[in-house]
Amino acid sequence: MQLLILLILLISVTDACCSNFNLPALPPREQYGTILIDRTSSANGQQPVTFSHWLHRTKFTCRVCHGELDFQMKRNATEITERANRSGKFCGACHNGKIAFRHNGNCDKCHNGDIGYSDKRFDDFILKNALPMTIAGNGVNWATGFTAGAIKPETYLKKKSQDMNFEKELLLEAELSIIPPAIFPHKAHAAWLDCDNCHPDLFNIKKKGTHFSMTEILNGNYCGVCHISVAFPMDECKRCHPAMRE
Ligand code: HEC
Ligand code: HEC
Ligand code: HEC
Ligand code: HEC
Ligand code: HEC
Ligand code: HEC
Repeated sequence: MQLLILLILLISVTDACCSNFNLPALPPREQYGTILIDRTSSANGQQPVTFSHWLHRTKFTCRVCHGELDFQMKRNATEITERANRSGKFCGACHNGKIAFRHNGNCDKCHNGDIGYSDKRFDDFILKNALPMTIAGNGVNWATGFTAGAIKPETYLKKKSQDMNFEKELLLEAELSIIPPAIFPHKAHAAWLDCDNCHPDLFNIKKKGTHFSMTEILNGNYCGVCHISVAFPMDECKRCHPAMRE
């Protein structure tokens, strides 16, 4: 009897491993990570605002916006206002005519409701740069692209973060040993992010033994805060589970 239960368990687990999870549908690669912001725009007679992560991350690491400039990693969550932009906060920290086009008078460049606004620049960007490619998301391997110097995003605007030099690679063991463990490389993340982008809000290291299940991740928690919308998507199993068969 016990053997039978074990057998059924094993079969269902192998099934879970190799049949597909319910992965969210991916947009065309030039639109992965592109969002329309509409917390207040439509309500104030303006078109929603287009914002493309791929374009901005070629120029700045995540920490610049999600650390220094206080943008939340959640669409429509930040209280961005016209007034704040004008006074040099949020988008206005760069869209000031010095780092990027002026905020004033270029309303339609942002308020156009067009999620495909930057599409035409994407192919150019791919053609002009010798980029390592990958299978999903933007199709660009942002991790090796950065370390190899194919892209050179700025790591700060005004406030440099302290270099913590924490490069520990963690092995996140599955609850059942037949599932190849996931890896978590601190180095690849610290290149783009500050420690406090993840600790303690997303990952509380005082709580030992948290299991980051695929279901939680696909619901947008833990790794899924970034790896279903901006960083390479969940479709690329082997980048997190290196020992997994295709
Ligand atoms: C130039 C600024 C900028 C940079 C650089 C940037 N982001 Fe964002 N990000 C934003 C803005 C603005 C939003 C929307 C916030 C809002 O609407 O409240 C956002 C939203 C997000 C979201 C939520 C997306 C969604 O679909 O809801 C995630 C996740 C995210 N960013 C992760 C990242 C990661 C990871 C990086 C680095 C690879 C990064 N961001 C780089 C400005 C930036
Ligand atoms: C660099 C991008 C950018 C430019 C350029 C820009 N805006 Fe905005 N604007 C935003 C963002 C982002 C928001 C927040 C939108 C939201 O959450 O719906 C916003 C919000 C607004 C709002 C909503 C209400 C409020 O007071 O915050 C109005 C109205 C507005 N902008 C008008 C304008 C006008 C008029 C121009 C041109 C003179 C302009 N914007 C140029 C990015 C921009
Ligand atoms: C950290 C600096 C920075 C911040 C913050 C920033 N941008 Fe930009 N943005 C840039 C730069 C640099 C460019 C590229 C300018 C160029 O090459 O035309 C750019 C380009 C753009 C473009 C033009 C895309 C195209 O296809 O031509 C849009 C639209 C845009 N940003 C919207 C926004 C919005 C909306 C926000 C705030 C939610 C924002 N940006 C915040 C630096 C920034
Ligand atoms: C962004 C990283 C990441 C990607 C991509 C990823 N996983 Fe996972 N996966 C994890 C983490 C973290 C865990 C939890 C720790 C563990 O069990 O190894 C996990 C756990 C699992 C488990 C164990 C059951 C569970 O939910 O805990 C299975 C099965 C699994 N992943 C399969 C896959 C498959 C199949 C793919 C590709 C479709 C995939 N994973 C893509 C990070 C990832
Ligand atoms: C992208 C998210 C992310 C970033 C950024 C990040 N960490 Fe982590 N960190 C994690 C995860 C995930 C774990 C594993 C947590 C667990 O097992 O509960 C972890 C675990 C740790 C641990 C415990 C290590 C162990 O052996 O268990 C330490 C210490 C730590 N991080 C320090 C740092 C420092 C210092 C930085 C900045 C240089 C940093 N982290 C940046 C996600 C991150
Ligand atoms: C706050 C955002 C964020 C969170 C949370 C996060 N990552 Fe990442 N991760 C990134 C970014 C950004 C990169 C750079 C590559 C990219 O953007 O595609 C990256 C890269 C990686 C890489 C390197 C891949 C390579 O080819 O070198 C692995 C592996 C990885 N993440 C696994 C995980 C796992 C597992 C978790 C959860 C335990 C996690 N990440 C949580 C943002 C995040």
